[in-house]
Amino acid sequence: MTIASTPAPGEGQTVCVTGAGGFIASWLVKLLLQRGYTVKGTVRNPEDPKNGHLKTLDGAAERLILCKADLLDYDSLLAAIAGCHGVFHTASPVTDDPEQMVEPAVKGTENVIDAAAEVGVRRVVFTSSVGAVAMDPNRGPDVVVDESCWSDLDFCKKTRNWYCYGKAVAEKAACERAKEKGLDLVVLIPVLVMGPVLQPTINASVVHILKYLDGSVKTFTNAVQAYVDVRDVAMAHVLIYETPTASGRYLCAESVLHRGDVVGILAKLFPEYPLPNRCSDEVNPRKQPYKLSNKKLKDLGLQFIPAKQSFYETVKSLQEKGHLPIVS
Ligand SMILES: NC(=O)c1ccc[n+]([C@@H]2O[C@H](COP(=O)([O-])OP(=O)(O)OC[C@H]3O[C@@H](n4cnc5c(N)ncnc54)[C@H](OP(=O)(O)O)[C@@H]3O)[C@@H](O)[C@H]2O)c1
Repeated sequence: MTIASTPAPGEGQTVCVTGAGGFIASWLVKLLLQRGYTVKGTVRNPEDPKNGHLKTLDGAAERLILCKADLLDYDSLLAAIAGCHGVFHTASPVTDDPEQMVEPAVKGTENVIDAAAEVGVRRVVFTSSVGAVAMDPNRGPDVVVDESCWSDLDFCKKTRNWYCYGKAVAEKAACERAKEKGLDLVVLIPVLVMGPVLQPTINASVVHILKYLDGSVKTFTNAVQAYVDVRDVAMAHVLIYETPTASGRYLCAESVLHRGDVVGILAKLFPEYPLPNRCSDEVNPRKQPYKLSNKKLKDLGLQFIPAKQSFYETVKSLQEKGHLPIVS
């Protein structure tokens, strides 16, 4: 008698990941390959050494196809998405320059949705951001931020938070376009993402703690921030893709911390670095962490990596990749 082994969840399925060489997407591609998927990863330049790490992932030689595509080039996206059962749209500019941010984020997302609809994919997972959710000056301190919240677009414009503005408008565009086209769209909303880096370059969110460790910032701000580990973000993408009943938006967050708590955790873990111990705001009361719900993802079975562990492994990885000197 032969015992049939359980097939990997992705066996026989091809999915597209846009912006495959990015911080989050690299972990997502790694996880999808582990789960047996064939992955068509879009990159703007397949020959660029910054995408070289993708080719070394387990399963990449057999099941990773890198496709040259730009978000503003519809035909390049259509070619990448052709033959795919699903799409993970993670590519986006990450900048507060309005010209570089808004059009690629919004038009690029519409292009991805249109191409996915044209090809007839089963589901699109769109990577939004807490920037599309939490920028609301009128939210009371006791309100629990959940999937029903949206950032105030006028406030984002007024405060020149073009990244948050672009992500919010892109998410709204994705939802409207998908509805128009009858396409199944599920949205993942990560908060600030930490964790080990696979790519050789430094991405914007990791700089958030690197700047405290390398001495380039001497004080911390009187501000709070929500955090999540990149490996949980990758798993959340996969969970909401693979769960047939998944729908709507999913906030992906582990905890909300004051900057003082962050530098405190880092100082305990890595006392050898010149971490700031003074807040730049000596006048106002310390900002309190807001409440944030991660219930929808927990209900799907996601167990979040604690922020302390995530910070530790981020620093170790920055040291290993040579972005942070090892101080004895
Ligand atoms: N990291 C966070 O804290 C965080 C939090 C919430 C949401 N997110 C969202 O998660 C996604 C990935 O972010 P990340 O942190 O992994 O950023 P990242 O490392 O900067 O990756 C972004 C990717 O998007 C690609 N891209 C940018 N503009 C493009 C264009 N016009 N055409 C094609 N590709 C383009 C980049 O390609 P190139 O390498 O060619 O530039 C890169 O691969 C983004 O949608 C971001 O908004 C991130």
